Amino acid sequence: MGTIECHSSAAKKNIHHHQQQTASTMVSLLLLVFSIIQFPICSGTMNIPTKEIAPGVDMPVVSIGAGGLEMENAKTIVGNWLSLGGKGIDTALHYYNQAEIKAAIEESGLSRKDLFLTTKIPNCQVENLAADVQTDLDLLGTDYLDLLLIHGPRKGDCALAWKEMEQVYERNQARSIGVSNFKREHLESILSNATIVPHVNQIQLNILQNNPDTIEFSTKHGIMVEAYSPLGRANHSGDISGNVVIQEIAKRHKVTTYQIAIKWILQHNWILTFQSSSKEHQAVDADVFDFTLTYTEMQQLDWLSGLGELNLNSARDDETSNLALAFAVSASLGLMIGIVIIWQRSGKYHRVNADDHTISDLQMNRMEKLDRHKTKVSSQF
Ligand SMILES: NC(=O)c1ccc[n+]([C@@H]2O[C@H](COP(=O)([O-])OP(=O)(O)OC[C@H]3O[C@@H](n4cnc5c(N)ncnc54)[C@H](OP(=O)(O)O)[C@@H]3O)[C@@H](O)[C@H]2O)c1
Repeated sequence: MGTIECHSSAAKKNIHHHQQQTASTMVSLLLLVFSIIQFPICSGTMNIPTKEIAPGVDMPVVSIGAGGLEMENAKTIVGNWLSLGGKGIDTALHYYNQAEIKAAIEESGLSRKDLFLTTKIPNCQVENLAADVQTDLDLLGTDYLDLLLIHGPRKGDCALAWKEMEQVYERNQARSIGVSNFKREHLESILSNATIVPHVNQIQLNILQNNPDTIEFSTKHGIMVEAYSPLGRANHSGDISGNVVIQEIAKRHKVTTYQIAIKWILQHNWILTFQSSSKEHQAVDADVFDFTLTYTEMQQLDWLSGLGELNLNSARDDETSNLALAFAVSASLGLMIGIVIIWQRSGKYHRVNADDHTISDLQMNRMEKLDRHKTKVSSQF
C-alpha cells in the first residue's frame, strides 16, 4: 500500500549522466538507490485506502486540506497532492479558494469520478443553504459533491438546516452529507428529527488535542469521525513533533512524528484531512501503510490527551489476540509442568511412604542419592 516513488533532481541527473556514459547497469542502479534514499523529493503514485462512509460511498482515509494556515496556496497544495496520486480534497465555501482548486483539478487532467471532493456550507442558516450549495458547485465546476458538511453549528436552527441537507442529498447534489465541529448536544438536536444520520462529523482531533465525548457520541451513532488539524496545525493545536512520547515511538518505527500522528488516527478507524504546502511533506506524511502501531503504543498515545480513559476501541489489533494466544500457551505449559511435578512427587511420596519414612526434602534427596548409588552398584554386576 502507499507506493510513493521518490526521486531527487540529483537522482535524475545521475541517471542521465550514467546513461550517456553507458556505465554499468549495476553502478547506475546503486547510485539511483542511494539518491532515492538520500534526497526524497517525491513524485509518483500513492495508493490511499478508502472507507465506506455512506451506502456505496467510499472515501479516501486521507484527504488534503485546502483551508488552514496555507489556504492562499490552495492551487499548489491541491496540485501537489493530485500529482502524488491523492484523490481526496477538503475545502469550504468560506475558504474562498474554490477557483484555485478548480484550476488545480483541471491541470491535473483527472476526471471528476477519480476525485473525492468535500466542501462545507458555512452554518445552519436554512434560508441560505440551498443557494450556498449551488454557489459551491458552480465555483468548483462540478454538478455533485462527494461529501457536503455544515461547517459549524452556528446561526440558525441546525435541526431545520439538517432537513435541508437531507434534501440536497435526495437531489443527488451530494453523495454523502455530514457536519463539522458538532459536539454531543448539537448532534442530539439534529438526530431527534433526522431521517438520515450524518455520515461524517469533521472535528479537531489529534493525539494531543481532541474531545473524547464528541468522538464517543459520534461513533456510538455510526457517524464517521474525520479529524482536522491532525498534525497539530503547526503547534497551534498541540506540539506533535516536540512531544517526547511521540518522538520515541517514531524513532522505534523509523518514521516521523507526523506519520505517527496520522497513523494513530487511522488505526483508530477514523479518517482525516491534513495540510502541507510541501510536496515532500505530503508524500512522507501520507506514507503510513507499511507499519503498525502496537496496542501498547496506541494506549500510550491515547493517554497523552486523556483519550485513554475512555478505553476507546482502537485497532486493538493482532497484538490482543497474540497476547491471548501467549497467555493460553503459557497457561497450558504451566498446567502440564504442574501435572508432571505432582505426578513425580506422588511417585516419591509413594516410595517414601512405602518405606514408612517421614518426608522432608532433605530425606528425599538422601534417599534419591542412595537409590542412585544402589543402581550404580548393582549395574556393575
Ligand atoms: N472543519 C473545520 O472547521 C476545519 C478547521 C481547520 C482545518 N480544517 C481542515 O483541515 C485541514 C488540515 O488542518 P490544518 O491545516 O489546520 O492543520 P494540520 O494538517 O494539522 O497542520 C498543517 C501544518 O503542518 C505542517 N506540516 C505538515 N507536514 C509536516 C512535516 N512533515 N514536517 C513539518 N511540518 C509539517 C504544515 O506545514 P508545511 O506546509 O510547511 O508542510 C502546516 O503548517 C485544513 O487544511 C482544512 O481543510 C477544517
